[in-house]
Amino acid sequence: MLSLKPTTTPLNNNPNISGDRSFSSISTATAGKDGDLRRKTRVAVSGSKLRRRGSVRAAISSGDNKTETVSSNSSVPAHQSEDNSNGSLKKKKPSKGIEVRAVMTIRKKMKEKLAEKMEDQWEFFVNGIGQGIQIQLISEEVDPVTNSGKSIQSSVRGWLPKPTNHLHIVEFAANFIVPKDFGCPGAVLVTNLHGKEFYLLEIVIRGFDGGPIFFLANTWIHSRNDNPESRIIFKNQAYLPSQTPAGLKDLRREDLLSIRGNGKGQRKLHDRIYDYDVYNDLGKPENKDLARPVIGGEKRPYPRRCRTGRPPSKSDPLSETRIEKPHPVYVPRDETFEEIKQNTFSAGRLKALLHNLIPSIAASLSSSDISFNCFTDIDKLYNDGFFLKDEDQNEVSFTFPVMGKFMKQVMSVQERLFKYDVPAVIRRDRFSWLRDNEFARQCLAGVNPVSIELLKEFPILSKLDPAKFGAPESAITKELLEQELGGMSVEKAIEDKKLFILDYHDMLLPFIERMNSLPGRKAYASRTVFFYTKSGVLKPLVIELSLPPSSSSLESNKTVYTHGHDATTHWIWKLAKAHVCSNDAGVHQLVNHWLRTHACMEPYIIATHRQLSSMHPVYVLLHPHMRYTLEINALARQSLINGGGIIEASFSPGKYAMELSSAAYESQWRFDMEALPADLLRRGMAVEDPSMPCGVKLVIEDYPYAADGLLVWSAIKEWVESYVEHHYVEPNSVRTDVELQAWWDEIKNKGHYDKRNEPWWPKLETKQDLSGVLTTIIWIASGQHAAINFGQYPFGGYVPNRPTLLRKLIPHEDDTDYEKFMLNPQRTFLSSLPTQLQATKVMAVQDTLSTHSADEEYLGQVNPLHTHWTNDQIILKIFSKYSAQLEEIDKIINKRNKDNRLKNRSGAGVPPYELLLPTSGPGVTGRGIPNSISI
Ligand SMILES: [Fe+2]
Repeated sequence: MLSLKPTTTPLNNNPNISGDRSFSSISTATAGKDGDLRRKTRVAVSGSKLRRRGSVRAAISSGDNKTETVSSNSSVPAHQSEDNSNGSLKKKKPSKGIEVRAVMTIRKKMKEKLAEKMEDQWEFFVNGIGQGIQIQLISEEVDPVTNSGKSIQSSVRGWLPKPTNHLHIVEFAANFIVPKDFGCPGAVLVTNLHGKEFYLLEIVIRGFDGGPIFFLANTWIHSRNDNPESRIIFKNQAYLPSQTPAGLKDLRREDLLSIRGNGKGQRKLHDRIYDYDVYNDLGKPENKDLARPVIGGEKRPYPRRCRTGRPPSKSDPLSETRIEKPHPVYVPRDETFEEIKQNTFSAGRLKALLHNLIPSIAASLSSSDISFNCFTDIDKLYNDGFFLKDEDQNEVSFTFPVMGKFMKQVMSVQERLFKYDVPAVIRRDRFSWLRDNEFARQCLAGVNPVSIELLKEFPILSKLDPAKFGAPESAITKELLEQELGGMSVEKAIEDKKLFILDYHDMLLPFIERMNSLPGRKAYASRTVFFYTKSGVLKPLVIELSLPPSSSSLESNKTVYTHGHDATTHWIWKLAKAHVCSNDAGVHQLVNHWLRTHACMEPYIIATHRQLSSMHPVYVLLHPHMRYTLEINALARQSLINGGGIIEASFSPGKYAMELSSAAYESQWRFDMEALPADLLRRGMAVEDPSMPCGVKLVIEDYPYAADGLLVWSAIKEWVESYVEHHYVEPNSVRTDVELQAWWDEIKNKGHYDKRNEPWWPKLETKQDLSGVLTTIIWIASGQHAAINFGQYPFGGYVPNRPTLLRKLIPHEDDTDYEKFMLNPQRTFLSSLPTQLQATKVMAVQDTLSTHSADEEYLGQVNPLHTHWTNDQIILKIFSKYSAQLEEIDKIINKRNKDNRLKNRSGAGVPPYELLLPTSGPGVTGRGIPNSISI
């Protein structure tokens, strides 16, 4: 935990700083009061443009008509300024005004390159005699002459670090003497005169009545060389637009205008401009194999991504030129990963993995890119590991320090042995994946528990165009189902809500022909029907695997499989299940994970920055839920979902992956159905029940994702409702909140432009409307993403359980391969799975995507550096209650996992359902709900 204590000792304890550079020598600005000699001041920086339109100009009524720099003798040393143990300063009130002190807390880079260290030294000498950082206090009160907030300026001279109890945190101070009628400061303008940016954590101002005032920053302050504008940091008090203190109104508007940018030009890495664009940066039009269509637009609808403004490709003006690793894709400056995440876990690992390890694996295995010959080959990945090629020695050794313990690498320069951790799905029971009950259980408690639906009607019908895809009726007949229903009719089973379906037919069939034309890819569009047995578990009854009808006859090409009891049928059934799992893995990754969480969050984040001031209560509420998402999405566009990227290489849809994702967005995605209770109702997995906490009752009570998810959903909802209630007191305050209305308008009409005309968008007129929208957004960023993301390696790390692609169709008696299958069915099964290279690569990616960073922030927790995120004691109290609720949920879930009646999460060899346990340690833990989508 970091502690940001107030400066309590003189600042001259740096041996390199001479005594007269102590606190007493920090420049102190004063301003008096004289109506005739009013002087408009900007922070007087030569060549600096502090605000573009001058509205931030500070008018100081100065009694002596000048800004005075107090000499070292006239100032009060810090240690003499402090009078009590709670750290507050005794206010000196000289006749000129009130003496106040601003302490800036800055985080240094953890690892400075040598050149940067030398630069620091240079800056030290330069700034030791000049001004390094200038700060200007802006009052909440208006100066009647300028009609802007009263203002006073000072500067922080040179780098005067005061050691704190955190290695990389330093503090600087500046003194002001402010007029007695200055009012309360509501903002600080910061101008960085250094040649390079610095990271400002917060500014604390002491000396005013009412105790210290906190200005939470957590932002990179650009160098004036890069951008002449000053940065505006507001104090930690939330205001609706209509409540904005008069002195801050201009700043509130100016800051938003600055963030929106003008929609032109290429973004530079130091920019903090948020804007929208389509996914036109995934392919390389100049390379026929890697050209990809634009995703986003009428033809291929999609949520928008953050605009980078790179020049168009010469081969295709509609596509943006790509930027390849290791060069970074632009994201607004404060969206970039902090060093701890860059260097140690998750995203850093992902980068290392993509840059070093994957190429090494490829180089080592490509010459023998073969099938697993036996199951022992797969086990070897965990037990023995495999050797990486000699020539990759240096790169692999470099990768080693950033890898987590869960992808155990017993690598050294001598050994270069790469070894995986045993995934949770086979850790307790080596053979559970073979069983039907585990196959079905994972639909309720696996990594993709959001696709299963209640079967509401029979016969099962396709909604696809019969002119293209043949007759709509499924080949699953009543008779086939009733063979397995123990005397119950299909009608009765449907009436009693006992039949469920995993239906990928309509989503995948339009792509199957193209997918199967890719080398080494063979897939069907699957349907699986389950029966909910008296013992409380699901049992798969039939699997229907469909291929597109031949264009000439439109004759049905559907085969239905049952589990059977003879050896041949049993092996065929295993292959059919593997095809279902492969469908499931693709839909999970491209639709439920990437599209519904990562891609759909991006427009909310862009709109929040563009339309809500950082002092807006909704911005403050959403801030922790937006951390790192744009950066991880940018990294994904660069290396995961791009043409020829990891997703195309590893999953069945191959180069059509993003088109499939777009088709799912078009046909299925609705904002209102992203709320957990609404999603459960839509899938028939719950029924309305006003007596239940979320107004819904689960059809299968032991549905771990839904049961735990509803607990988390309820906690978020209660917190959000209390928060909204507190801030929106007036009856019409939601409707009249201009920033909020612009925010919602932009989410619908820009961020989700292709869905802008849909009738289902919720209205945003009441507090209930707002609470519903915010609960949904926070749920998607936290609980939903956690449930879908962090089980990727625990379930997918054993390839036979969840193959991401299959290479062969199921053999039929008239196939040439059928004889081989009869002689060695295990070989047929293994040779249908991904190759050793494909499997090894996807396991490495899944492991990394399942990893929590060491600096992860979990739901209900506050980043130790953000403890002053609000000064509202009522909100802090409500937040404590929310945190306590989440701790309670942790206990409830652990208790559920020990309840042997709940067979979908407890039993012999059954892994407990922990994906919605709120907290976790770092690494691949299969638990923990981060506040935001950061991996
Ligand atoms: Fe993710």
